[in-house]
Amino acid sequence: MSDKVYIFDTTLRDGEQVPGCQLNTEEKVRIAQAQEEMGVDVIEAGFPISSPGDFQSVVEIAKAVKEPIVCGLTRAVEKDIDVAAQALESAHRKRIHTGIGASDIHIQHKFRSTREEVLERGVHAVKYAKKYVEDVEFYAEDAGRADLNFLAQLTEAVIAAGATVVNIPDTTGYNLPWVFGEKIKFLMENVSNIDKAIISVHCHNDLGLATANTIAGLANGARQAEVTFNGIGERAGNTSLEEVVMTLKSHPHLNLETSIVTEKLYPMSKLVERLMRMPVQANKAIVGANAFAHSSGIHQDGFLKHKDNYEIISPDQVGVPESKIVLTARSGRHALKHRLENLGYVIEGKDLLDNIYEGFLDMADRIKQVEDHHLHQLATNSQVTLG
Ligand code: KIV
Ligand code: ZN
Repeated sequence: MSDKVYIFDTTLRDGEQVPGCQLNTEEKVRIAQAQEEMGVDVIEAGFPISSPGDFQSVVEIAKAVKEPIVCGLTRAVEKDIDVAAQALESAHRKRIHTGIGASDIHIQHKFRSTREEVLERGVHAVKYAKKYVEDVEFYAEDAGRADLNFLAQLTEAVIAAGATVVNIPDTTGYNLPWVFGEKIKFLMENVSNIDKAIISVHCHNDLGLATANTIAGLANGARQAEVTFNGIGERAGNTSLEEVVMTLKSHPHLNLETSIVTEKLYPMSKLVERLMRMPVQANKAIVGANAFAHSSGIHQDGFLKHKDNYEIISPDQVGVPESKIVLTARSGRHALKHRLENLGYVIEGKDLLDNIYEGFLDMADRIKQVEDHHLHQLATNSQVTLG
């Protein structure tokens, strides 16, 4: 029996903070509805006190979706919590996400405070938020660089105060996966009331380790992953939703599953790319333009013999229409024949194929990528007939 991992999608909060990615309320509601359709468990809709526009978007998202929990971010400040509670009023299921810095770096250089005072403020914020909602998530910002014993003490205190979820963020993307996994394990083993809350992981990608750290956290007991579409987010971004979901699906021995409808991953990635005007890099895992494209001769030959040779996920599982055989000067005869046959040409005999291949290499060296209309031209030049 697999354990459920809750998907907490912060595309509309941590993702939308990115310069150039700002959305209007209508666009945010559109994304929230798509998040609901694809089975996201928690939508972090915004940071209501940050601006009137963000407040209004949280209000509208709260009205627009039924199934997912709608969550609003706050600092550990009463006014923030009052405003978040007001924004969430009409939500069917609501959560306030409040918290404070937990590392000594943040405690000293951001809050100019002490561990004791920060713990007190955290506990107070949770109790204050509980006046409004049953479901309160606490974030221990920069937990990835916090003293582990203090983090355990803080986690225990906020759970005792009523936190239903405790978020352990690697805010600066500093941790190594096995170290982050050990930290989650330590909390699972040393916080006496840990069974009363869900541990959540929220990783940033400064060293390109966000997905690995999230998976390590889940493998060690966390049961909520905080993610964004296409991995957008502050600096180098957040953990990417599609990578976490497909990693868990591709490794069933982890016994962890999500409720995400994976066939909607690619269309959703495209929607976020378009509305947020943030292009997805071609080699991005799962949703990049090259994620299911095969271009070298050796790979193309192996793929055409059996797709399992070079694909661990089939494209239809994530909503990508099909794998692509890209023709370049690195492609071989097998790929060329396959593409010509797909266009309806009959290539009989090795000599004919050798002859076309020679022309193809000439052309590919000149134009880099050979498309269908080039293939028609090549076939005509070599007097190949349509079948
Ligand atoms: O990265 C972080 O620590 C955050 C918190 C506000 C949850 O985004
Ligand atoms: Zn973050």
